[in-house]
Amino acid sequence: MKLENKIAIITGMASGIGRAAAFLFAEEGARVLAVDIQKEAGEEVVTAIREKGFTAEFFHRNLTDLRQIREMVDKSIQMFGRLDILYNNAGVDFPGTVLEVTEEDWEKAININLKSVFFSCKYAVEQMIRQKTGGVIVNTGSVASVVATPQRAVYDTAKGGVLQLTKSIALDFAEAGIRANCLIPGIIATAMTNVEGSVSAPPALEGTYQPLGRMGTPEEVAKAALFLASDDSSFITGTALVVDGGYLLH
Ligand SMILES: NC(=O)c1ccc[n+]([C@@H]2O[C@H](COP(=O)([O-])OP(=O)(O)OC[C@H]3O[C@@H](n4cnc5c(N)ncnc54)[C@H](O)[C@@H]3O)[C@@H](O)[C@H]2O)c1
Repeated sequence: MKLENKIAIITGMASGIGRAAAFLFAEEGARVLAVDIQKEAGEEVVTAIREKGFTAEFFHRNLTDLRQIREMVDKSIQMFGRLDILYNNAGVDFPGTVLEVTEEDWEKAININLKSVFFSCKYAVEQMIRQKTGGVIVNTGSVASVVATPQRAVYDTAKGGVLQLTKSIALDFAEAGIRANCLIPGIIATAMTNVEGSVSAPPALEGTYQPLGRMGTPEEVAKAALFLASDDSSFITGTALVVDGGYLLH
């Protein structure tokens, strides 16, 4: 098992990629603190994980609130005594060019897609340093961290920030034994890509967005997250792992 005895926080695990990762990390031996704003769906995931004989605890929190982010890290210590892995996965799509995005939109989109990631890292790093055990951070970027995606001004801004934040943490805390890496998913079949007006909606696939010719699955991204969270990637830090069916090739 790749995560035996590890304590992992996974955010945004009630759906999509986070849901697949919660199952996979637990199956690989992690004790998972599973955090989401969706109470019922989050609880269902954790119940299903437990029914398979693995360890997970649901923690219902809104991660746009700093106090609730701190509570998430504190909960991991209270429940499991430690924090080894933080997988920041929660995020929302946000359409609009710079002309359409209002200050209110900006705050909504940045708060969950960037600010929550920043402060989750801050509190997790504090704890990992206190433990003197090092730790691993996996942040969720997007192809939008690297290239512009159509009509996604604030989403691109946030995801670009997540990639830079990850590098910054990797550099500053390498000596403390903390690794930080960024996942770069392409278009993945989840609730996020199943909404009208989304750049990721099926019509976008009729072009040449993803040379492999299909959407990725949440499980395919979860496996890459597992690699970054486990010792299999022990000499990898501050980099981006692209899981995009070739989206960034052209
Ligand atoms: N699906 C894609 O094509 C794609 C592509 C690139 C990047 N991503 C990124 O992958 C991550 C997961 O996306 P997904 O496709 O699985 O989406 P999803 O909508 O299926 O899951 C996102 C989860 O985040 C949770 N969440 C949202 N706001 C929250 C908040 N304030 N506090 C706590 N939880 C919150 C949601 O409840 C949901 O369970 C996101 O960061 C997304 O930006 C997705």
